[in-house]
Amino acid sequence: GDSQHSYRVLDTLISLFEQAIRKAFPEDVTLPVLVVPGRQTDYQCNSAMPIAQKLTAAGKKIAPTEVAKIIVENLPKHEIFGDIQFSGPGFINVTIAAAFVSEQIRNILLKGILPPNVLNIVDNHGSQGEHKKPKVVIDFSAPNIAKEMHVGHLRSTIIGDSIARLLEYVGFDVLRLNHLGDWGTQFGMLIAHLRDKFPEYKTKSPPIGDLLSFYKESKKRFDNEPDFKQRAYECVVKLQAFDPDIIHAWKLTCDVSRQDFEYIYKELDIKIIDRGESFYQSRMIDVVKELESKNLLKLEEGRKVMYLPDIDVPLTIVKTDGSFTYDTSDMATIKQRLEEENGDWLIYVIDSGQALHMQSIFAGARVAGWTKGKNVRIDHVGFGVVLGEDGKKLKSRSGETIRLRDLLDEGLGRSMAKLKETDRQNVLTPEEIEKAQKSVAYACIKYADLSHNRNSDYIFSFDRMLDIRGNTAAYLLYAYTRIRSIGRTAGVDQATLKATAHDIELNFEIEERELKLAKCIIKYADIFTRVLDELLMHGLCEFMYQLATTFTDFYDRCYCVEKDKVTGEVRLNYRRILLCEATANVLKQCFEILGIQPLERM
Ligand code: ARG
Repeated sequence: GDSQHSYRVLDTLISLFEQAIRKAFPEDVTLPVLVVPGRQTDYQCNSAMPIAQKLTAAGKKIAPTEVAKIIVENLPKHEIFGDIQFSGPGFINVTIAAAFVSEQIRNILLKGILPPNVLNIVDNHGSQGEHKKPKVVIDFSAPNIAKEMHVGHLRSTIIGDSIARLLEYVGFDVLRLNHLGDWGTQFGMLIAHLRDKFPEYKTKSPPIGDLLSFYKESKKRFDNEPDFKQRAYECVVKLQAFDPDIIHAWKLTCDVSRQDFEYIYKELDIKIIDRGESFYQSRMIDVVKELESKNLLKLEEGRKVMYLPDIDVPLTIVKTDGSFTYDTSDMATIKQRLEEENGDWLIYVIDSGQALHMQSIFAGARVAGWTKGKNVRIDHVGFGVVLGEDGKKLKSRSGETIRLRDLLDEGLGRSMAKLKETDRQNVLTPEEIEKAQKSVAYACIKYADLSHNRNSDYIFSFDRMLDIRGNTAAYLLYAYTRIRSIGRTAGVDQATLKATAHDIELNFEIEERELKLAKCIIKYADIFTRVLDELLMHGLCEFMYQLATTFTDFYDRCYCVEKDKVTGEVRLNYRRILLCEATANVLKQCFEILGIQPLERM
């Protein structure tokens, strides 16, 4: 590996086996390379069987065990290889060399948790020049103004933020966009209502602190008063024509909502740039012109629609009354992100219910020719519904949708109760308690979301997420503070740790549990790489849990600080203390990627 990046163990093995297979069977170029983490062994290469099948089918009969032998004979020499064994019908079991493991642990201690080298996951050569960082445009959160920011938006916020954090950490240039629903018919209603009820809105602050009820009132009038409805539509037309008076009223309503959203973002430590639907008004006009000139729109019952290959439902680009739709706005987002932002990778974090919409937009962009000549990667990062403990859509006790603010507040209350229960000796100062309260509450909410495969629905349960047993943030935070306390108890400072890491021999072979922990620690670079490629954060959570339990296993048996029974003298086992330090550092980096603030004491 190079000195700027951490070593990817699995990927290194894959490339070594690939070289061996290519060399051993030069005339069969497309042979499979299968290397996976093993159960009884560190890694296992399972290529022999499918290769033997392929060769046999091609008339070159050969046994899998024979193939396995040939592969191993052709493996390049590499410091990563410890023991290599054959098992079963051609499995190749690889143990990685203890000396190699030690070197990686030493690197972690001396250089920190370097990111793996993964920028080549997207190919941005040509469009931006070779040395620029590849650019990712990520669309997440995206609540709608005047409407409720609900748990679906919370999922998008948490998942999107953590993907963005991972991308930033490995070195992408990341543009985080909040595609706020800040345009369209509902604003006609709001503005018309505001003008009726509070004509002095331009000089005085209007009483729309509770924008949601204000929205509900206006909706009621819209549905019941024909002339109000008419005025609301007129307002929409004027808004889209940027009438200054109407724009002023529109800004007022947006600002009220934004304060609500900003509270949530501040609490959860989310950085995001507002760029709502309104931003695309003039661009939507251009998109329609362009699609029309390219003959891609079809007139159907007064609507202008765009048909796409292999998709039954066309996109609605212009409605009968001439207005634009959600489809139009997303055709504008994708064009803007491709052509103006020059994104190398576009990510939309939106609930799976909108999968067809997203597929259609991606297909639409291709049909329109916007991806032509570009090597761009485009992902819809979907996610399932948040359910209550009854397995139905999450609702408040009174049966309404839950306000996010109330949800965070309940989290804070529950976390305080938990902390008081675990900190019976009152070791924490009041300031520490307050910090811990937030950290634990928000960590639990985020982790519960991120640790589940985002593609499935998940059950929101405070009891479950605050449980200190099992794969929860509460468990991991607690494990982390415990590890950190080891160094403190031993009284070793950072400078001493670094110097020691530099000097001592790190022979983990003496104790099986040490070697096992060390091997687990150095997996992180492979995990980050895989998680980034699949955009599935639960893989990272599973790794954290595995690391924490492997650590517990080690710590229960391996003393870091030993007292001599006879002389009473205290002896520090630096090798083990350094393993604790490496574990904590890796965990800390994982927390950071998830947007969780771990505590040093708890
Ligand atoms: N505001 C939309 C909603 O609440 C989500 C927008 C997501 N982003 C996008 N580019 N369509 O469902």
